[in-house]
Amino acid sequence: MNKNIEEAFEKTRLAGSIAAQALDEVVSFIKPGVTTEQIDELCYKVIKDNGAYSAPLFYRGFPKSCCTSANHIVCHGIPKDKVLNEGDIINIDVTAIKDGWHGDTSRMFSVGEISVKANHLIKTTYESMMKAISILNDKSTVGDIGFTIQSYVEKEGFSVVRDFCGHGLGRSFHKEPNILHYGKQGSGYKLYEGMIFTIEPMINEGLADTKTLNDGWTAVTKDKKLSAQFEHTVGITKDGYEIFTSSKKGLDFPPYKK
Ligand code: MF3
Ligand code: CO
Ligand code: CO
Repeated sequence: MNKNIEEAFEKTRLAGSIAAQALDEVVSFIKPGVTTEQIDELCYKVIKDNGAYSAPLFYRGFPKSCCTSANHIVCHGIPKDKVLNEGDIINIDVTAIKDGWHGDTSRMFSVGEISVKANHLIKTTYESMMKAISILNDKSTVGDIGFTIQSYVEKEGFSVVRDFCGHGLGRSFHKEPNILHYGKQGSGYKLYEGMIFTIEPMINEGLADTKTLNDGWTAVTKDKKLSAQFEHTVGITKDGYEIFTSSKKGLDFPPYKK
């Protein structure tokens, strides 16, 4: 691995671990009665205490430090005084900037007991991301990622959101290429050693269609059914990959032991 790639991986590893740590701390904090604004404050604090910045804060006018997307919200939910209730599912998406480099990750959380259907949706979404990660190497393509996710998710009876995608990142938050979560094997952009990007499938219980609310950010399912998402930042190595945003506490996937 050349020196530039090593440096990029080293920096992204650090930024990624800070973002993952913020989500680790959300695990014991989330319960019925907590507001999404309180979750935002917690994420802001963990990032700041690590000498990092929150990438979403003031990004294109986004007002908060993380995205909080509950139930039928697909992504980009804005933290506010909304109280979480028993049975809710919610995605928390955190991006830290450390020494100029980005680490971007999100996980699903459940509030108390959730339905069997919601649980199946969350599990399928996580598995689809991990299956896509497991095929990564310097010979695979963006289409292989999309195909892996789409074929698995549709077999489980759910749909892949088309309106949002993963992305390259590094010194900037969002850069080329777009990482589509659907597609054909062997098609699209070829991956290469040193490439750093996110995989962040948004999976819907019903139809894939989304719409954006008047706040200009909050994307919801058109049919008001549930949506779930997980996100890791990954890097391509000579024969494989590295995940930069894994939990150091084994809290990557619920049920999180507290
Ligand atoms: N973290 C999101 C992503 O995965 C982007 C959030 S942009 C914001 O790409 F402005 F909404 F925060
Ligand atoms: Co992202
Ligand atoms: Co994100």
